[in-house]
Amino acid sequence: MRRILIDTDPAYTVNIGVGLIERLGSSIQELEKQPESVMIVTDSTVGPLYAKQVQDALSHYHTIVHTFPAGEAHKTPETLLGILRAMAQHELTRSDLVLALGGGVVGDMAGFAAAVFQRGMRFIQCPTTWLSAVDASVGGKTAVDLPEGKNMIGAFHQPAMVVCDVETFKTLPELRFADGAAEMIKHGVIASPELFARMKDLTWRLDPETTVAMNVEIKRSFVLGDVHDQADRQMLNFGHTIGHAIEAWSDFKLSHGQAVAIGMVMETRAARKLGLSDLDESELIAVLNKNGLPTETEASSEEILEFALHDKKRRCSGVTVVIPERIGRARLQTLDMETFKRYIEAGRS
Ligand code: GLY
Repeated sequence: MRRILIDTDPAYTVNIGVGLIERLGSSIQELEKQPESVMIVTDSTVGPLYAKQVQDALSHYHTIVHTFPAGEAHKTPETLLGILRAMAQHELTRSDLVLALGGGVVGDMAGFAAAVFQRGMRFIQCPTTWLSAVDASVGGKTAVDLPEGKNMIGAFHQPAMVVCDVETFKTLPELRFADGAAEMIKHGVIASPELFARMKDLTWRLDPETTVAMNVEIKRSFVLGDVHDQADRQMLNFGHTIGHAIEAWSDFKLSHGQAVAIGMVMETRAARKLGLSDLDESELIAVLNKNGLPTETEASSEEILEFALHDKKRRCSGVTVVIPERIGRARLQTLDMETFKRYIEAGRS
């Protein structure tokens, strides 16, 4: 098992290994203050696979399972209200615990419910997808969508612990592997030639424990100095400025990883064409394709611009983008609106 300390305030550990669900009881015993009840929040895909196993592992505690329908379409205020009301009906208190069992949607919603229930209670992230294990479960971002946009309501609320049982990846369909691969390739481009090489020769799939640990270390390095996403953490948005726009343009028919893959290629091409970087996008395209990810879109530059400007990260004075300088190194640059328009056009062609 690997243990990585995320020394934010509060600090927490990320435990990564095989068979960790069975050992969840002893993991929870490490918490300073013991809960009486644990509410396991999960979705209709993951719940039937692992909720009973989690409950068995937590037999020393009073457990409740709350399941909601799987999918980004259910990451809504209504689903959130369902979680919060179940917490109230089961008389959870601030000293109890929420356990998010699932992928990014479950982690975001259970985490946000924990952030606001009785003004804040502890929660544990138990990611069961690559994407959530290498990105969403670490760093304390929690949120729910509005019809007006993704992650419109949310809070920074650090988990009390992250427990990643890599055995759960075995039940994932191939598309979910590709979704995780997109975020890992992103980490490789902005911070680690070593990880990029692992994504290139597909060896990342052979040793999930090491692969997750490498990614968590990278994520940790960006989160530590910038928990509230005002500076260097924004480097993790590589591929996301255009990716989020393409995801919304596709009406979420493209998965997050697919949209980010296209976004990374366009952002790399745009930076090169505008003379902001020498990095050519061909190596990136090859790695993405090898991992089953798309690298092109039919969305026009006008459509991408419209959705990109709608994104919450837009500032009137300009848009901060991530410029990949070479594999393993990137920088942030704020573009004025006129340059941002040219950037999108350059990325599309
Ligand atoms: N997923 C990007 C971040 O946590 O900042």
